[in-house]
Amino acid sequence: MSLTISNNQLTALAANFGTPLYVYNADKITDQYQLLQHAFKGVNAKFFFACKSLTNINILKHIRSLGCNIDCSSINEAKLAVLAGFNPSNILYTSNGIAFEEIEEAVGLGINVNIDSLSNLEKFGKKYGHGYPVGIRLLPNIMAGGNLKISTGHDKSKFGIPLEQLDSILNLVKQYQINIAGLHVHTGSEIKDVAVFMQVADIFFELVPLFPELVFLDLGGGFKVPYKENETGTDIALLAEKVQAALIRLNEQYGRNFQVWFEPGKYLVSESGSFITTVNVIKKNKAAIFVGVNSGFNHLIRPMFYDAYHKIDNISNPEGPIQHYAVVGNICETDTFAWDRPLNEVREGDLLVFNNAGAYGFEMGSNYNSRFLPAQVMLKEGQVHLIRKRDVFEDLLRNQINID
Ligand code: LLP
Repeated sequence: MSLTISNNQLTALAANFGTPLYVYNADKITDQYQLLQHAFKGVNAKFFFACKSLTNINILKHIRSLGCNIDCSSINEAKLAVLAGFNPSNILYTSNGIAFEEIEEAVGLGINVNIDSLSNLEKFGKKYGHGYPVGIRLLPNIMAGGNLKISTGHDKSKFGIPLEQLDSILNLVKQYQINIAGLHVHTGSEIKDVAVFMQVADIFFELVPLFPELVFLDLGGGFKVPYKENETGTDIALLAEKVQAALIRLNEQYGRNFQVWFEPGKYLVSESGSFITTVNVIKKNKAAIFVGVNSGFNHLIRPMFYDAYHKIDNISNPEGPIQHYAVVGNICETDTFAWDRPLNEVREGDLLVFNNAGAYGFEMGSNYNSRFLPAQVMLKEGQVHLIRKRDVFEDLLRNQINID
């Protein structure tokens, strides 16, 4: 099992499959899952991979093979999970803002559902009464996460049912005898501070006596992964220790045996992914030396959308002298991957690799500017697998209807 992909391997993959190219190291995903398992070994915890971060069916199957569960954010993701062989009881659908029909479909699949609005909770109660255990997503008024765009627990967030509406929740539960099996809170992505999860645990602590049929307490996802060289991620061992202590207290106090659920996306797949691009042009102006690569925010939107930092390596000239560059994409609008970034001297034709690109990279890609989505390759136990072909021209027209 190799946790890193060497520059030579990346160069060979680029030569074989062309660029831009997403490469995923399945062994790294395995390792991340095992780290979680190890840290939480004394805890009644279940992990659900937040598959919105990376849905290639082969990745999903790999994750299933590890014994991990899966969290979905649309009915189509749930269907992909079924296709990837997940047992319905290991699939969770944490819905937001969806039509009730999707919840009905989810129930039809027999999967776990977290409901995030009073209106859907009411419809659910009317239709299923006590017959189908369900979780509720709560809005706790906690500001957390790497930046505002990926913060979901604060008081201006659309997610979950605000805690202030607890009475309305309880009224519905009583009126329709709804079987509340779980409480769910996801406060954001890139949460470094373990205390945030414990704040949520404290809230759950207060709520538990109100829901006698609770089975699981779902603390969501959002573990931080290090994007910059000297950054550290969420201290998983510390988190496990604190969660274990809280769970023991909770179980003792209420004489129960709760499960703790987590929904990691980035933690499982971010570091497994490398995105290889080729330098098309180098251009200077007064402000910068621009390195124009054969990709753009249509393939990796995180820098433009979240000001996210991805470490970039010039694997074609790793010993070259360091210079500062603006690394830009070829989309016909401002499309900056990195500004004033020290890199080994870059020449046209060099391969630039974006690290930590496994999560929300390909997945948020588009055909903007009528460019092709990149190919995806998975490395697993020494084998190379092409898991998605690069688009071809016909793909751009696939659903268009020519009315002439
Ligand atoms: N559970 C729920 C309900 C979520 O909404 C999310 C992410 C997760 C779990 C997984 O969060 P993670 O462990 O991956 O941080 N596209 C953004 C991240 C958006 C996250 C959306 N929800 C980015 O690239 O930074």
